[in-house]
Amino acid sequence: MKTAELKEAILKAKEETGTLVLAHTYQAPDIIDIADITGDSFALAKAATNIPDKKRVLLCGVRFMADTVKILSPEKEVVLSHKSATCPMAEQIAPERVRAFREENPDVCVCAYINTSTELKAECDVCVTSSTAVKIVSALPSEKVLFIPDQNLGGYVSRFVPEKEIILWDGCCPTHHSVSVKDVLEAKAKHPGAKIAVHPECRKEVVALCDFIGSTSEIINYCKSVEDDVIIATERGVCDKLSRDYPERGFYQLAPNKLTCPNMKMTTLQNVYDALLGNFGDVIEIDEELRLKAKRSIDNMLKYGG
Ligand code: 13P
Ligand code: SF4
Repeated sequence: MKTAELKEAILKAKEETGTLVLAHTYQAPDIIDIADITGDSFALAKAATNIPDKKRVLLCGVRFMADTVKILSPEKEVVLSHKSATCPMAEQIAPERVRAFREENPDVCVCAYINTSTELKAECDVCVTSSTAVKIVSALPSEKVLFIPDQNLGGYVSRFVPEKEIILWDGCCPTHHSVSVKDVLEAKAKHPGAKIAVHPECRKEVVALCDFIGSTSEIINYCKSVEDDVIIATERGVCDKLSRDYPERGFYQLAPNKLTCPNMKMTTLQNVYDALLGNFGDVIEIDEELRLKAKRSIDNMLKYGG
């Protein structure tokens, strides 16, 4: 089928199967076109708390996002768009290590980036997304916080919350962490006068060279608020969206070969169509005891970050 025909067929299949399609902003533009709700990790988690009239949700993104939907809406059938689409950060720390840390450090609050497995969330006190991390960590009752697994996001949070002792893990997003100072300097030389907006998953020396730091949705809002051209230092889905929404503006993708997340870009339109018909993707199943333990961390995120 041609792209336009496939999109038509997807819209029809969504109706016929009572499926709501959620897509992270990092999905390819064709997937964004057929989604019902798009946004950053926090927006998708919030959407998952209120899915009134659909019996099934198809999550186009990576596994932890589909797991989050299932944790919050266990009565729905939740399908991940591509079985192999996982965020490498989700398993950069074994749940047993968190359990051991907690036993040795009972006064430390354990804060997990939402990009973690359900098993890890079950061992933690609270989750954060990149758009809510500073707000949530500031609001936590504990003076000491273990932040897992992203060293870059954790370091960014610690700069804004100096009153707390934040213990960092050494994990990272391989996509954002691969951006170098050289990449930024080259982009600045190519587009003099343009501002640079960066995601906090990038290295601190990269972030230091930029004009604005924020999550996916914060970068989009920043770009809407300024008139300058902007170099976008996050996954290319953001620059694709901005260029499509504001074709008259100048948005430039920083290091496009590096800032294309292979897992986020795994899902194709054909996969979506096949998943809607029940022939592709992965139906999420979570043991009930595990779900309830992991839900506590997500509920705390919604409580402190909402
Ligand atoms: P946000 O959606 O919170 O900006 O996170 C970016 C990301 O890498 C999601 O996988
Ligand atoms: Fe994970 Fe990074 Fe890809 Fe987001 S961009 S899914 S954090 S690897």
